[in-house]
Amino acid sequence: MRIDIITCLPEMLDSFLGNSIVKRAQSKGLVTIEVHNLRDYTTTAYKQIDDYQFGGGAGMVMLAEPIATCIRNLQSQRTYDALIYMTPDGKRLEQKAVNAFSLLENIIILCGHYKGVDERIREQFITHEVSIGDYVLSSGELAAAVLSDAIARLVPGVISDETSALTDSFQDGLLAPPVYTRPVEWEGKTVPEILLSGNHAKIEDWRFSQALERTKNRRPDLYQNWTDTNQ
Ligand code: ADE
Repeated sequence: MRIDIITCLPEMLDSFLGNSIVKRAQSKGLVTIEVHNLRDYTTTAYKQIDDYQFGGGAGMVMLAEPIATCIRNLQSQRTYDALIYMTPDGKRLEQKAVNAFSLLENIIILCGHYKGVDERIREQFITHEVSIGDYVLSSGELAAAVLSDAIARLVPGVISDETSALTDSFQDGLLAPPVYTRPVEWEGKTVPEILLSGNHAKIEDWRFSQALERTKNRRPDLYQNWTDTNQ
């Protein structure tokens, strides 16, 4: 899978790309993530990428032209299955959408900055508008990193324990159950005995009931969805 990220702040993605799962995915050749600096696609002497908004008001708007040039340059090299714009007014990201994105071959992620991009870019090119939550970040780079990480870890072979991604919170519509590691006793608190029993069927039952309980208490909205579809 290939992810092309278009940004005016490429340095913001350096530590994300240089670490963890995403780095491993890239070095294994399973995922390619290329970052494109919008300033390389400007035609003005000052490498201008934004301007004042028509109608007045605070905040700059990202110019259509450098974005369009960058997108068209990428599109001339390969076919893209999705062109995603990170924006707080997009559709709130959920695991189901991440799963669907992870099945695509080539995607572009456009990071917004300042007041966002000229609306005509959205009309002309964007296939999905994605928000990572109901709060406003100073720019779309962190949101693009969140989305890329969530996608990359689902690509087969990226996570060494194949089943681990499937047992994440949300994958079955429930939050994940609690987990423990050594020591068995820590500061007077002990690991639930069932986990030490070696009885895998019973352990799975326990995990499932804990997942249900946790979801019911912490996310009644998810719990309701789960009971509606499973009972
Ligand atoms: N850019 C700024 N805030 C954002 C958010 N919440 N989600 C996606 N992109 C953003």
